[in-house]
Amino acid sequence: MMGHLYATRMTTISKSFIREILKVTEDPEVISFAGGLPNPRFFPVKEIAKAASDVLTGADVSALQYSTTEGYQPLREYIAQRYHQKKGLEVSADEILITNGSQQGLDLVAKIFIDKDDVVVIERPAYLGAIQAFGVYEPRFCMVPLLEDGININCLRDALCKHRIKLFHTVINFQNPSGISYSRDKREELAKLFGQYDTIIVEDDPYGELRFEGAAPPSMRSWLDGKAVLLGSFSKTIAPGLRLGWVCAKREIMDKLVVAKQAGDLHSNSLCQRIVHQYLMSNDVDRHIETIIAAYKKQRDAMVAAIEENFPAEVHFTKPEGGMFLWVTLPERLSALELFDHAIREKVAFVPGTPFFVDGGGLHNIRLNFSNANEDRIKEGIQRLGRIMKNLLASG
Ligand SMILES: Cc1ncc(COP(=O)(O)O)c(C=O)c1O
Repeated sequence: MMGHLYATRMTTISKSFIREILKVTEDPEVISFAGGLPNPRFFPVKEIAKAASDVLTGADVSALQYSTTEGYQPLREYIAQRYHQKKGLEVSADEILITNGSQQGLDLVAKIFIDKDDVVVIERPAYLGAIQAFGVYEPRFCMVPLLEDGININCLRDALCKHRIKLFHTVINFQNPSGISYSRDKREELAKLFGQYDTIIVEDDPYGELRFEGAAPPSMRSWLDGKAVLLGSFSKTIAPGLRLGWVCAKREIMDKLVVAKQAGDLHSNSLCQRIVHQYLMSNDVDRHIETIIAAYKKQRDAMVAAIEENFPAEVHFTKPEGGMFLWVTLPERLSALELFDHAIREKVAFVPGTPFFVDGGGLHNIRLNFSNANEDRIKEGIQRLGRIMKNLLASG
């Protein structure tokens, strides 16, 4: 009835397919590899309760007052220092904008850079939330394939030659959905290439701290400085319900981001920012992250072992060195959507590949999350999936 009233941009975006799948997985009997949920076993509930109490019983009532758009200064300083400590980056607190999760960072970056029909490069497959956030601003997407060690540089070079590209979005560590990380060599090649172009690289890195093995290669900012805009988040290291993340950008970009955020929500939740800061000051967060890493590594190992044992030999999959997902490529004869229908009947859920593409791809891919189910459930769920795959292949 109201159809004619909606802005045309609303016709181009749809509800998140994953959020719809998550409704199915509310049934506790369903073994879900679908969501991108961190394991709630590791939410620091008591510590957050203590931090909240400390903040609210302190003399300073400004936690409940309106605040600056940029965010709580001590939290911005903490994030800047952590960039220095963990990645060797020289970042000042003025270059940090606190956001409602890194998802808001994606929206703000899109808001300040993307005009209708601008060309935006995303990875193939891409983070669905980036497709959604950018999609609102009606760009033309150019998908560049991911290889095992990161983006296909030749295809990216072609895209940069052919189009005037405003920005390139990359999930550089343990990508959602593929689990792929860019090697150091790939990052260097990327830096050389971007050095020649007037294009922003958005390094979206919510999973970087969840590295199970290997050394972390440098951030793109260490080569590209102001051309690299970094997005970070407390969702995977503390808890996603806090809805706190940040954008790290040079002052010039920062000024625009602040205006864009002010227009949207004035500032992120002051109380939450202070609670998180208090939590960070009074707990050993590195030890907490090590606990998460140890558990997710075991869960990844359980999933990889179960896949090797149960999936047909023609099925290929990535073995991520961290993060929360692995990516499965089915033989052409097997449709991910058909597999999904059968799997749901057997009470196993995953995300079929198609929502991670804007070009009709992903028909034979599935994303599996390993952070949210324990090892027994992982084994059981993968066994069921393997059985269904074999039956479908046998029945032609
Ligand atoms: C690559 C990537 N970017 C951003 C986000 C958004 O995270 P949040 O808004 O909780 O920080 C996610 C969430 O899963 C993600 O996978």
